[in-house]
Amino acid sequence: MQQITILGSTGSIGVSTLDVIARHPERYSVYALTAQSKVDELAQQCARFKPQVAVVGSAEAAKKLQMLLDAQGLHTQVGHGEAALCAVASAPECDSVMAAIVGGAGLAPTLAAARAGKRVLLANKEALVMSGPLLMEAVAASGAILMPIDSEHNAIFQCMPASCQRTPLAHGVEKIMLTASGGPFLKRDVNTLDQVSWQEAVAHPKWVMGRKISVDSATMMNKGLEVIEAHWLFDVPADKIEVVIHPQSVVHSMVSYVDGSVLAQLGNPDMRTPIAHALAYPERISSGVPPVDLIQIAQLSFERPDFLRFPCLKLAYDALQAGGSAPAIMNAANEIAVQAFLDSRIGFRVIDQLIARVMDAMPSVAITDIESVFAQDRSARELANSFIPS
Ligand SMILES: NC(=O)c1ccc[n+]([C@@H]2O[C@H](COP(=O)([O-])OP(=O)(O)OC[C@H]3O[C@@H](n4cnc5c(N)ncnc54)[C@H](OP(=O)(O)O)[C@@H]3O)[C@@H](O)[C@H]2O)c1
Repeated sequence: MQQITILGSTGSIGVSTLDVIARHPERYSVYALTAQSKVDELAQQCARFKPQVAVVGSAEAAKKLQMLLDAQGLHTQVGHGEAALCAVASAPECDSVMAAIVGGAGLAPTLAAARAGKRVLLANKEALVMSGPLLMEAVAASGAILMPIDSEHNAIFQCMPASCQRTPLAHGVEKIMLTASGGPFLKRDVNTLDQVSWQEAVAHPKWVMGRKISVDSATMMNKGLEVIEAHWLFDVPADKIEVVIHPQSVVHSMVSYVDGSVLAQLGNPDMRTPIAHALAYPERISSGVPPVDLIQIAQLSFERPDFLRFPCLKLAYDALQAGGSAPAIMNAANEIAVQAFLDSRIGFRVIDQLIARVMDAMPSVAITDIESVFAQDRSARELANSFIPS
């Protein structure tokens, strides 16, 4: 029986993870669930999955959760704040950690899980973007297992022999091809993009996801973050990671080999497939996702991304080339810009301009420890906020 902590259980990935776990009660039980503020949803999850611990964002939310649990006669222990998140991510009782908090807030508990040698199911790409070398070092030092949950990286993992995940170029891999749907604005007149609302931006044509990643998909910053994620997960340089627009979202990514072979992983756009794969690997379990019907889909198309339409993708390549703290700075500026856009305080086109301004103003510095990452993250957030009109 694998005991699982789900960081961010009330989110899109968290709910999909619980859906897969519920299908296999003989294999998985829930050790801890966490949320930021959705206390009612978390209490309902506790009633169903009976975790030992539940964590929320504040003392106030913890008090409310405790009352809801008491009313149902549940004995789940309640905690709050970052220290409690790190504790459930590294607790000896837990075997696997689903890292599904959105944004930089997920870094500390994800790192705690890696340091504790857990099997880390990584959805929280921002953690790896911010602290790539440190997180990978922590994994190597503790013997943790890092399983990619992002559908693209999970696809790449499946298309590479298990023995060469960290040394693919020495084993015949020529390049990685990350597919991208292109989001809701792939065909929209570029000159009208400054007028789009956040409601239009989060209406992804293929995937149902949280609001932040949906906006990231509309700007293609999501793909930029994934380029950096692929770099760290598979130790491949930027010029060997190609982004390919594939609007049908059926081919989740591809690996191209020196002999001319291209291996691809296909499936319906449903995160329960990579979640089930990562939970059970090297075995396979059912996920609730039906197999892809290629006859029904009939056509698969591919095209090159346009950096003028999607400047955030270019910014991410630039950050990866710059190295050091540049990806953390870019990620922090993006989080502030996306939230400001979701709050209708800035327009869609201002997102990339604001990130570029922050990156220009903050030269990359070497990152030596996690404190230096958090310091760069804080400074970039302050600077980004100062650029937003009040
Ligand atoms: N959704 C997808 O299909 C998908 C695919 C690939 C990768 N990912 C990645 O997976 C991560 C989660 O995405 P999502 O779409 O599931 O996001 P989401 O639906 O917004 O859920 C985020 C989760 O994190 C919690 N949370 C938010 N802010 C927090 C904070 N400051 N401290 C602690 N917990 C916090 C939320 O709690 P509340 O509910 O209480 O706010 C919620 O449980 C992201 O890094 C995303 O890039 C997502």
